[in-house]
Amino acid sequence: MEYETDRYHIECIDGIEGIKKLKDKSVKLMYGSPPYPNAKRDYCIWSTEEYLGKIIPFIKAVLPKLTDDGFIVINVKSNRERGDDSHSSRRSLVVEKLAIALEEELNLYCVDIEIWIKSNPVPTGNRSSCQDAYEQNLWFSKSPKWSINIDAIRRPYDPDTLKMYENNTFKPRRTGTKYVSKVKKIKPNPLGALPLNITYIDPVNIIYGGVSSKTQNHQAVQPAYLPAKYIKATTKEGDLVLDPWMGSGTTAQVAIELNRRFVGFDIYPDYVTLALNNINNLEIK
Ligand SMILES: C[S@@+](CC[C@H](N)C(=O)[O-])C[C@H]1O[C@@H](n2cnc3c(N)ncnc32)[C@H](O)[C@@H]1O
Repeated sequence: MEYETDRYHIECIDGIEGIKKLKDKSVKLMYGSPPYPNAKRDYCIWSTEEYLGKIIPFIKAVLPKLTDDGFIVINVKSNRERGDDSHSSRRSLVVEKLAIALEEELNLYCVDIEIWIKSNPVPTGNRSSCQDAYEQNLWFSKSPKWSINIDAIRRPYDPDTLKMYENNTFKPRRTGTKYVSKVKKIKPNPLGALPLNITYIDPVNIIYGGVSSKTQNHQAVQPAYLPAKYIKATTKEGDLVLDPWMGSGTTAQVAIELNRRFVGFDIYPDYVTLALNNINNLEIK
């Protein structure tokens, strides 16, 4: 396998075994969405109790394969434990435990825990807390000093902010905050406003999205804007992106369209075929 030159390589294999075959320090970004804790899906269930034991081996396997300035982004949704006569349905903290393990056990550095607000959350029917409407993106760096391409993920300014910049002169704050050091007008950046650590819409193409299997033979297809944000922020053209839980191949499609190289694995042949079809349907420049 020649990952250095192949534009993409996808394979039906257990993700950990696939990762082991990669060259050391070859992957700039691992982006993926593993099976969610306790979620009953066609492909499998990773229970809350076994969750860390299932997922940490993937991260351990990938660490030597990451470049020294590489990143890991894991998209995951927390679950609620079943309530009974004496207990209400309790939100599991397994995702938070995973984040802590990434820092404490695996020596990664937390860039952020970002929130993906879903436009179409499936009602839980739960009456002892609010409805689930977000997922988390655990964004970690291998290096304590990292660099990202903020300009690549800027967003359109809110019209009210633009009006405020136009109509106001800003003065230094009495608190001594350095944001404005002398009386001045603020000029909007021509590339857009700084990105937020929440994602709920593709700011450029205005696509709302949640997990959807309506048009694909997979139960957890992501909207493309989710991997796109992290691929644009952490990689440049030609860099290698890995998704060890590839599913329908959303990460693959985005990476290839952005002229990154891609390697992906899934344990089920049907999903690998689906991902291949999706890649073949791309109009690659
Ligand atoms: C949440 S889905 C990923 C969906 C994907 N992001 C998409 O947009 O289609 C998780 C995937 O992990 C795969 N998976 C489960 N266990 C695996 C393993 N041990 N190795 C590789 N893939 C695995 C499942 O088959 C499933 O397709």
